[in-house]
Amino acid sequence: MAKDTVTITDNSNGKSVEVPIIRGTHGPPVMDVRALYKETGMFTYDPGFLSTASCQSKITYIDGEKGILLYRGYPIEQLAAQSSFLEVCYLLWYGSLPTKDEFEEFSSMISHHTMVHEGLRDFFNGFRRDAHPMAVMVGVVGALSAFYHDSLDIHDARSREISAHRLIAKIPTIAAWAFRYSRGVPFPYPQNNLGYAENFLHMMFSYPSEEYNVNPVIAKAMDVIFILHAEHEQNASTSTVRLAGSSQANPFASVSAGIGALWGPAHGGANEAVIKMLKLIEDPKNINKFVDKAKDRNDPFRLMGFGHRVYKNYDPRAKIIRQSCLEVLKELKVNDPLFEIAMKLEEIALKDEYFIKKKLYPNVDFYSGIIQRAIGIPTSMFTVIFTIGRAIGWISQWQEMITEKVQKIGRPRQLYVGAKTRDYVPVNER
Ligand code: ACO
Repeated sequence: MAKDTVTITDNSNGKSVEVPIIRGTHGPPVMDVRALYKETGMFTYDPGFLSTASCQSKITYIDGEKGILLYRGYPIEQLAAQSSFLEVCYLLWYGSLPTKDEFEEFSSMISHHTMVHEGLRDFFNGFRRDAHPMAVMVGVVGALSAFYHDSLDIHDARSREISAHRLIAKIPTIAAWAFRYSRGVPFPYPQNNLGYAENFLHMMFSYPSEEYNVNPVIAKAMDVIFILHAEHEQNASTSTVRLAGSSQANPFASVSAGIGALWGPAHGGANEAVIKMLKLIEDPKNINKFVDKAKDRNDPFRLMGFGHRVYKNYDPRAKIIRQSCLEVLKELKVNDPLFEIAMKLEEIALKDEYFIKKKLYPNVDFYSGIIQRAIGIPTSMFTVIFTIGRAIGWISQWQEMITEKVQKIGRPRQLYVGAKTRDYVPVNER
């Protein structure tokens, strides 16, 4: 019988080492190279982690070739259609779907943690009015660790759980206040009788001077947006949270590091970049010109919302959000010319040889901006909405890492290509 190992031979000296293979529940097996340096004196080299599994995880599985996404084994399509964001939070954190009683207790727990310390409110006034709300998110979420010391013992299971509850509950309040501050309008307090998405919409759009009723179709669409963004295994921001957390930093500091990573246009900032791109295209008749620009190797322009490191097929989240977008536009009777450009662009790109060959399909960000625009969310808040959804993924991944039997600080090595050892020359002799 074939051994579950791979043999690596150094052709310069003929020496071979056996590298064990580990198999997961789904997906490609991995070569366990942990002992490689000790046995061969060589590192593996993989910038951008193209062939590297950085950890073991039971949370999310993605099959990028088939366009499959599972949270704790459940297909994203089923969760988006039948579950709710809070139930998905429970699933991701605790590992299984809640019973009715467990869910009621959890929901009540989250809605009773939605207020933030009044001192934290003062933080907002320290920002410039024109600060990007993601800058506010990085600062204020990190500052939670200055207000909730009592749950920062990362070695205590109950402390970790309280921190997770606080994070999920308070992040919509912080996000909505970041928006309100930029507009110079009063900060509304959360309302515990409202559902998670409803409460967020209420904090975004209500005024003390008039009654505000949340449209249930919009609340459902918002809830689905949160579900779709909740988890996505070892992406850049989640890996950042794990790396920061591996130094035993507290969960709020680790999540704040993840928010910084999410902000970039190659990651969560892409939804904002999609709208900017669609506005730049301006008219369906200009699409071909922009598609040509995206294909030109000498032009840095890329079709934003297209392509993904893992998905080499239609991103399953993009399919769901596209459908949800149609429903919201119909409900609100919105005729958004950008939606028309987006659909036409998708149609043209999916038939284009360049995009077919490189397996570039729309990702979750392609339609998420349009649906948020229809709901009335300004472009600068798109990545903030992503942050609200992803907070549960980050904290669940952090908890999984911190409870592993063997704790190792994340510390990659490098291939040094700088100057060889040389002697210092005093300045007057140079
Ligand atoms: N438009 C045009 N060409 C593209 C695009 C695009 N959107 N995406 C990738 N390509 C091309 C690259 O130029 C490259 O071509 P080459 O092989 O001739 O050099 C090839 O496809 C592979 O692209 P890479 O950048 O090497 O792929 P990688 O996996 O590193 O990057 C990424 C993935 C960053 C998502 C990339 O596709 C991209 O920049 N897309 C646009 C930004 C975007 O939508 N980001 C959101 C991602 S989803 C998320 O974070 C929630």
